[in-house]
Amino acid sequence: SLPARVRIHEVGARDGLQNEKTAVPTAVKAEFVRRLAAAGLDTVEATSFVHPKWVPQLADAEELFPLVRDLPVRLPVLVPNERGLDRALALGAREIAVFASATESFAKANLNRTVDEALALFAPTVTRAIEAGLKVRGYLSMCFGDPWEGAVPIEQVVRVTKALAEMGCDELSLGDTIGVATPGHVQALLTALNEAGVPTSRIAVHFHDTYGQALSNTLAALRHGVTTVDASAGGLGGCPYAKSATGNLATEDLVWMLDGLGIETGVDLAALTATSGWMAEQLGRPSPSRTVRALSHK
Ligand code: HMG
Ligand code: MG
Repeated sequence: SLPARVRIHEVGARDGLQNEKTAVPTAVKAEFVRRLAAAGLDTVEATSFVHPKWVPQLADAEELFPLVRDLPVRLPVLVPNERGLDRALALGAREIAVFASATESFAKANLNRTVDEALALFAPTVTRAIEAGLKVRGYLSMCFGDPWEGAVPIEQVVRVTKALAEMGCDELSLGDTIGVATPGHVQALLTALNEAGVPTSRIAVHFHDTYGQALSNTLAALRHGVTTVDASAGGLGGCPYAKSATGNLATEDLVWMLDGLGIETGVDLAALTATSGWMAEQLGRPSPSRTVRALSHK
């Protein structure tokens, strides 16, 4: 059976833009977030409070967040450590996300830490965030394959997911950072997580479309009972520390499928497509989303 409603966790303004080489003006980012919210997305990840040298594109987090924080939507921000949490709290963020890795290679590349050192960095951050009344999401990257290590064993993913859950992350987003997952693998991982005591209700999925599998994988997750799906408007994105990663699942492609299945999202596809078309103009290249292209040529 399929859920009646899916919550889309929109990552375009963060995951989508973080990899862009040329700086996108802060005002354009704010307009992007505002238009995404106006299109009916109720969760719009806004930016990251990470080290500005690691992700220069999001170095304007302090300028951007105040421009969007009064929008009537959830606006999670990424923070890697207590320094990031302090910056987010100072601006009134109400929701954060920490981001772990299932593999040692990516933990090193993305956080300059081993997997366990990264968890140790997050633990006090998550505790303090919860004490401050914030919602906390835990991302887990490289849940299916890793560019350096190849296929990632399910037990490895289960171990780190459980650590994030026990730390207090209320939502766990399983990332297929390089887009190599296939539906059977998704089903197997979700089943293993349930057997390890992680309920499906706390799981979100985060697919990339490198091999064209993102929607098939999403459908497998929905059939398993997942109701939170990450997507990026226009299919923007990649990952600065994983070269083979292409765009995220495009929000428009997801909404097209969910609309067809009669699953509610609250998203106005026309408004969203117009927003991605506008953003593509700002970036100077067409959206890779099939749905954006199809609807734009009507
Ligand atoms: P480090 O170099 O090991 O940092 O980086 P450190 O802890 O040794 O600190 C060094 C200096 O950085 C210090 O300054 C700190 O204050 C400063 P100094 O005392 O030398 O003057 N610093 C900071 N400044 C501002 N904000 C901060 C901060 N933290 C330390 N938050 C660190 C470690 C974690 C900071 C770094 O590796 C980092 O920022 N990494 C973030 C990388 C990133 O954002 N990656 C993309 C997001 S993950 C992703 O996209 C995957 C996902 O989409 C899911 C999927 O698809 O898989 C989520
Ligand atoms: Mg991603």
